[in-house]
Amino acid sequence: MNIISIIEKKKLCQPLTKEEIEFFVNGAADGSIPEYQLSALLMAIRLNGMNREETVNLTLAMAHSGDMMDLSSIEGIPTDKHSTGGVGDTTTLVLAPLVAACGVPVAKMSGRGLGHTGGTLDKLESISGLSIDLTEEEFLRQVEDIGIAVVGQTKNLAPADKTLYALRDVTSTVDSLPLIASSIVSKKLASGAQAIVLDVKTGAGALMQTTEDSIELAKTMVRIGCDAGRKMVALVTDMGEPLGSHIGNALEVKEAIDVLAGRVEGPLLTVALELGARMLLLGGAAETVEDGKAKLQEALRSGAGLEKLRQMIAAQGGDPACCDDTSLLPRANYIQELRSAETGYIASMDTIRLGNAAQAMGAGRKQKTDLIDHSVGYVMHKRIGDHVDKGDLIATLHAKNPESAGEAGKEILASLHFSQAPVPPCKLIHAFVDGE
Ligand code: URA
Ligand code: CA
Repeated sequence: MNIISIIEKKKLCQPLTKEEIEFFVNGAADGSIPEYQLSALLMAIRLNGMNREETVNLTLAMAHSGDMMDLSSIEGIPTDKHSTGGVGDTTTLVLAPLVAACGVPVAKMSGRGLGHTGGTLDKLESISGLSIDLTEEEFLRQVEDIGIAVVGQTKNLAPADKTLYALRDVTSTVDSLPLIASSIVSKKLASGAQAIVLDVKTGAGALMQTTEDSIELAKTMVRIGCDAGRKMVALVTDMGEPLGSHIGNALEVKEAIDVLAGRVEGPLLTVALELGARMLLLGGAAETVEDGKAKLQEALRSGAGLEKLRQMIAAQGGDPACCDDTSLLPRANYIQELRSAETGYIASMDTIRLGNAAQAMGAGRKQKTDLIDHSVGYVMHKRIGDHVDKGDLIATLHAKNPESAGEAGKEILASLHFSQAPVPPCKLIHAFVDGE
């Protein structure tokens, strides 16, 4: 087989065969096809697309380019959830303990922050001592013992995706439906869960900004997952503004603990319950979505969810005391209030800019090797639809120093767009997609 003829075919809009797809995916994984040829092919795929059969074949080839985790020793239906990435989106830390407390095993491999979005692994590492680097055996044993583990991907999980994703990032080929769907679903298939709930974000801060494109992405991923024999559904949820009020690693852990302790409600809990109820349904622990939500609410009320988080933190070597006293989490040196320079209703937010503001404070990386500062970020006190008077508190900044707080404050204020007429709050759940 010849890579040039494969590029040529896709350039001419012709579908690629299973063998051709496996050839270039294996060549990406083992380094035998040079990056310039892979890049040309990625651009041809970005411009000319792939049909359903090609997309399924691409996903399966990427999943099988490395290890396929075997979770069959776990009792029950191992369940996972995946978000396409958001700002202030710490649903995993809220719903994973609640779902596990309801008896459905949660075996989750998470990612680092990417671009303007935060990553669950970075958030977890705010907890003193906690490790996300478990071996496959440790990961399995922990899920068998306590029903929950949230860890980093093992080295050899979908290696073809690592190569292709890094190339897409620098060749303007991230925004391709078959490439996004195969990238995400291949990693989910390889990490072994039998039931997977996808949270496809939509709006200003999402990979796909229109509801139609987001639904299309959700449908594509769900079809592939079901074709591959897994139970998979998706919710399309809003990213027109940050989901929770806390943005930044330790701040988001604090918010998740506050929610699990019953001190805080709001959109983060609402979305966590919607997604979690679907996990219980697929995991066989609920009859209906309403039944699932009621069970999760009970795990919240009884404290069983927070207790599950304590167990997980302890099992992964962390100090669970932060679950009872969030002041033990890393705290920033410099805390400053940010006040509004305008009067009006908040009509929209530039969520990407809001995410980048936290990253620039040190909550994220500019380069892969950068160290992050777990303590920094900010708490937003206003949402879309809120009325704000000049001088009202907009956010509390947790910064390294006054300069950093000043820069973040400017970015946050510039990210808010005001209207003089009332504006309704954002709709949180835009669509549900299943395999039918
Ligand atoms: N997340 C992924 O893992 N892959 C993509 O292509 C986009 C988001
Ligand atoms: Ca089993």
